[in-house]
Amino acid sequence: RLHQGEAIPEWFTFPEVVKILRERHPARAQQGFALFFTGLSGSGKSTVAQAVLARLLETGSRPVTVLDGDEVRRHLSKGLGFSREDRNANITRIGYVASEVVRHGGIAICAPIAPYAEARTEARQLVQSHGRFVEIHVSTPLEVCESRDRKGLYAAARAGKIKGFTGIDDPYETPAAPELRLDTSAISVADAAEHVVAWLREQGLV
Ligand code: PPS
Repeated sequence: RLHQGEAIPEWFTFPEVVKILRERHPARAQQGFALFFTGLSGSGKSTVAQAVLARLLETGSRPVTVLDGDEVRRHLSKGLGFSREDRNANITRIGYVASEVVRHGGIAICAPIAPYAEARTEARQLVQSHGRFVEIHVSTPLEVCESRDRKGLYAAARAGKIKGFTGIDDPYETPAAPELRLDTSAISVADAAEHVVAWLREQGLV
């Protein structure tokens, strides 16, 4: 066995050299990254995020921090509403916390609606100065999200009791080039999570 930093003898085979270099430079497998789920209310962001979390915790490779939409609004973004300005502030805060997690080599899982492209780009830039930003568009169609209506918010928005509801009377700007797109009306939550984990493996991130 070679000591750390010891020169690799010329007579080592290529696979042996690769193995040693990988051990010496764990690089991407140790690098932090952010999974940024974005999509309509009821699209399945949180559910898929939770399933991915479970899979990542099983492998136990690195600490994982979850920044879920509702949770964040109870703490980090308490007091913010749903105006364009407030939503953007919310996403910037999430992006900032995610970038700190990533800077320390952790995994940040974020799951806000993040309806505006400008704020998503800002979050991406914050994170990318320290690691990878994986944007996952949960593209479940509005009709399906609305038919689920778990919290009764779509009904309230249709009745005009909630103003500026995403997808009803406030826009959701579809991500143009997300790393992944998942439609939970077409695949199961387990399959969606498997898809994310397989992609991360392919990218050498886990
Ligand atoms: S945003 O746009 O990214 O800042 O939104 P987010 O922080 O993810 O919060 C979304 C949850 O807030 C509830 N809610 C609304 N959503 C959209 N539009 C309006 N006007 C609104 N008012 C309240 C809603 O329950 C969202 O939860 P999820 O989990 O996405 O269904």
